[in-house]
Amino acid sequence: MSYQTLTTSIEEALLLITINRPEKLNALNQMVLSELEQVIDDFIVNNALKSAIITGSGEKAFIAGADIAEFTTLDARSGQALSEKGQRLFSKIENSGKPIIAAVNGFALGGGCELALACHFRVASENAKFGQPEVNLGLLPGYGGTQRLTRLIGKGRALELLLTGNMIDAVTAFQYGLVNHVVPQPELLIKAKSLLAVINTKAPLAVAGCIAAANLADANGTAGYKKEAQSFGELIVTEDAKEGIAAFLEKRKAVFKGL
Ligand code: COA
Repeated sequence: MSYQTLTTSIEEALLLITINRPEKLNALNQMVLSELEQVIDDFIVNNALKSAIITGSGEKAFIAGADIAEFTTLDARSGQALSEKGQRLFSKIENSGKPIIAAVNGFALGGGCELALACHFRVASENAKFGQPEVNLGLLPGYGGTQRLTRLIGKGRALELLLTGNMIDAVTAFQYGLVNHVVPQPELLIKAKSLLAVINTKAPLAVAGCIAAANLADANGTAGYKKEAQSFGELIVTEDAKEGIAAFLEKRKAVFKGL
């Protein structure tokens, strides 16, 4: 199967998924979301595959976020629907009984950070940078980031990232427990593959059991996800969000008015 926005390759029982829009720093447009969902659906039911890696093409970005250019056409309803679409896909990744890990090879911002968070764990290259800069656009993360980031690194650190929009480097991400390993970029896929090679020798039902049980330790109901998607729909039509999105696309600084 061939895709427009990503590539896949199989080595033994391991599926490598590479988001492939390097000219836009692998930003997640709606086509990436749809194609990735197709790949994940196939991966989950393909008995020949035991695990997967998600990475980004090039050496600069894992994924620099949702595609901001697509935000200009959203209204409250389609904004909330987009958020729910991303949430559904990322929950499928989190709930896969076969491990899916993120090999973060550069910027993991916005939806890119959220995708990494939905994976079962993360390895990063030394140049990786993580952040949730949606607040700079007058928005909030809409693909589960408010929930998963808070659970993974704790409320204080999560809120600092969410409210400042600041990026953290790979070493800080390691200290926060956001990534498990930091390696030089040429070793990133080697490291990710070597971890999955170990897991691939284990009993698949035991692996699936560990993931399902660990996910339950995290579970806090769906209220937070619902609130996130609803807020995304409400914010996307505000004057400040229009200003924030326009400012990014026009490469200038946003001026917010609280409207
Ligand atoms: N959506 C759409 N396009 C994006 C994008 C995104 N999230 N992130 C980067 N791009 C595009 C840029 O517009 C640019 O396109 P152009 O060459 O057609 O102008 C191209 O990718 C390269 O990005 P550029 O900004 O020139 O690279 P940089 O090295 O100067 O900066 C970043 C890198 C990651 C700091 C910067 O691209 C950025 O801030 N991106 C947005 C991050 C964000 O807010 N994500 C959350 C979205 S909800």
